[in-house]
Amino acid sequence: MATADDISPPPLPPSPPPGPSRRAALLIGLGGGLVMLALMGVAALVSLTKGPDAVMSVGGPFNLLDGDGKPVTEKTFRGKFMLVYFGYTFCPDVCPTTLNQVAEAIDRLGPKADRVVPVFITVDPKRDTPAVMKEFAAAFSPRMIGLTGSADEIGKAARAYRVYFAERRTGPGANDYTMDHSSILYLMGPDGRFLAPIRAEETGEQIAAALGRFVR
Ligand code: NI
Repeated sequence: MATADDISPPPLPPSPPPGPSRRAALLIGLGGGLVMLALMGVAALVSLTKGPDAVMSVGGPFNLLDGDGKPVTEKTFRGKFMLVYFGYTFCPDVCPTTLNQVAEAIDRLGPKADRVVPVFITVDPKRDTPAVMKEFAAAFSPRMIGLTGSADEIGKAARAYRVYFAERRTGPGANDYTMDHSSILYLMGPDGRFLAPIRAEETGEQIAAALGRFVR
């Protein structure tokens, strides 16, 4: 199954404890949301793999900031393959696991790794400042580039890549939230065109094999 992240454990408000009917409503609401998220993920993956028209419409211009706060656009890495993933550094589970597999895949490419830039774009720019992104990306691979930006530019980038994300409140505090987000790796060619989606659940070995079909 694809793609929705942070789907368990369901975050329940700490206090006051909801009564039986409210709890049931909450669970039904959560369940419905998760089903919808899962369906959206599958639909996204299906539409990505459908045909040349769908393929052409993934990716596009973006204006983001790297770990040093310098502007980065879709043209910055022209001439190299980009392996793009959207997520956030506070992600409890899926993002770190995926980025570990990406880092392993890049290592497995050997000398060909020079031709691939793994790019991690946050969907949580409120917390993921350039400095936070820099340290986080570097923890996985010295080759990984973490990108952030204004909420507006992050939204534009996510729309270009057909990435769904939404804040989910977990409490009253400013930081009491997680981010739901679709979880697909996008391989972009040296000319900036979308080449293939790769499932985020793949192992490093599988991701390396998928990359190897294009990076020769
Ligand atoms: Ni995540």
